[in-house]
Amino acid sequence: MSTNKMWGGRFSAGPAAIMREITPSIDFDKRLAGEDLAGSRAHCRMLAQEGIISKDDGQAILGGLDTIEKEIAAGDFVFKRELEDIHLNIEARLAELIGPAAGRLHTARSRNDQVVTDFRLWVRSACERAGQGLLALQQALLAQAEKHAATILPGFTHMQVAQPVTFGHHMLAYVEMFARDRGRFEDTRKRLNESPLGAAALAGTSFPIDRDTTAKALGFARPMRNSMDAISARDFALEYLAACSIAAVHLSRLAGELVQWSTPAFGFVRLSDAFTTGSSIMPQKRNPDAAELIRGKTGRVLGDFVALATVVKGLVLTYGTDLQEDKERVFDAADTLEISLAAMAAMIADLTANPARMRAACEAGYPTATDLADWVVRVLKKPFREAHHIAGSIVKLAEDAGVGLDALSLADMQTVEPAITQDVFKVLSLDSSVNSRMSLGGTAPARVKEQLAYWKGLLK
Ligand code: ARG
Repeated sequence: MSTNKMWGGRFSAGPAAIMREITPSIDFDKRLAGEDLAGSRAHCRMLAQEGIISKDDGQAILGGLDTIEKEIAAGDFVFKRELEDIHLNIEARLAELIGPAAGRLHTARSRNDQVVTDFRLWVRSACERAGQGLLALQQALLAQAEKHAATILPGFTHMQVAQPVTFGHHMLAYVEMFARDRGRFEDTRKRLNESPLGAAALAGTSFPIDRDTTAKALGFARPMRNSMDAISARDFALEYLAACSIAAVHLSRLAGELVQWSTPAFGFVRLSDAFTTGSSIMPQKRNPDAAELIRGKTGRVLGDFVALATVVKGLVLTYGTDLQEDKERVFDAADTLEISLAAMAAMIADLTANPARMRAACEAGYPTATDLADWVVRVLKKPFREAHHIAGSIVKLAEDAGVGLDALSLADMQTVEPAITQDVFKVLSLDSSVNSRMSLGGTAPARVKEQLAYWKGLLK
């Protein structure tokens, strides 16, 4: 077995067969090809500009990299596992194409700064894609919110009917959550956007490189200050995974709502045939599979964060091949989040709300009991605790009679509190309850419309 032609100078024997199984990362890090070419181009131009390599060699290298880019795009590039990773695959092909000048590209560079430069670029784009996916989902939620600014459904706490709210208000709650998720990806992108290139193996280099030039060429805000930190830090990837995890948790909650709302017992929404699947045994079923999958996939994304945090934990400075394990976790989380966002946006756009079912569910649950208590406080000047007790006793009356609060007679209510007047009936309807919730951020359609206008301005 021959030694490795990229680094095998001091070796007299080749690797054990099992090493050829465990070492290669090419199967997954080929996804960094575009970033690797960009990093090599920036490095090569800087080397030629600083006179570290000749202009001719620089030109030859850039020409070779162009050819490789075309080969990869055309699917003609042969990725070889014996060449371990994307960096060595590209360098070896460059040598085939342009000869010994290829060997000058790696001057003043190490795979350690090379890989993490590529990876930062990749995660930077992933942050942007996540932001776009979240934006599209917000727009879908906003469109439903607009249609249903005044559609009443029960708001739940403890999964018990609590108070009537509007479907628009409910949709806009998720718009808020996904806005914070976007903010997390923007912050992650901003913080990671510094260049590790030029940190070389760990200590910097004796060649007179210009790190500002390469940083700028790659769209980084500046070079990282500390070469040891530059090659060993992976908190940018952890931060990305943390942002993915929180967004996935939010998606999972919304997915849970869809699953629940679409069961016949609720019937609040209907997903079209395009977003439901049948059962192989029960012909009546319309399963919300995509929602369940989104909810289920949350576990993988959280797992990706934990896996990488565990890899980095306890790893002394600087690089260890442990860090090769960073990429698959990030790729998996990115793929999972992106498909989940796209599927969720499509389902939200697809769903048809059923206002009648929403209202019926509300009526079954005495959701205006708080309005009754509030009336007793406002009009009869009772302390809230006492008013709560009075309203509770009236709910019990209605429950025993099997009717809604507004179907009780005034005389019935007066058996509990003689001072109650006809005026109380004004606050017992669902509509009056919702309309009265005019406090900032409240569910009154007038307030929901304000929130809508705010988000419409922002999400154009
Ligand atoms: N494939 C490696 C990784 O993914 C590239 C860096 C390897 N560096 C080294 N000195 N072995 O991290």
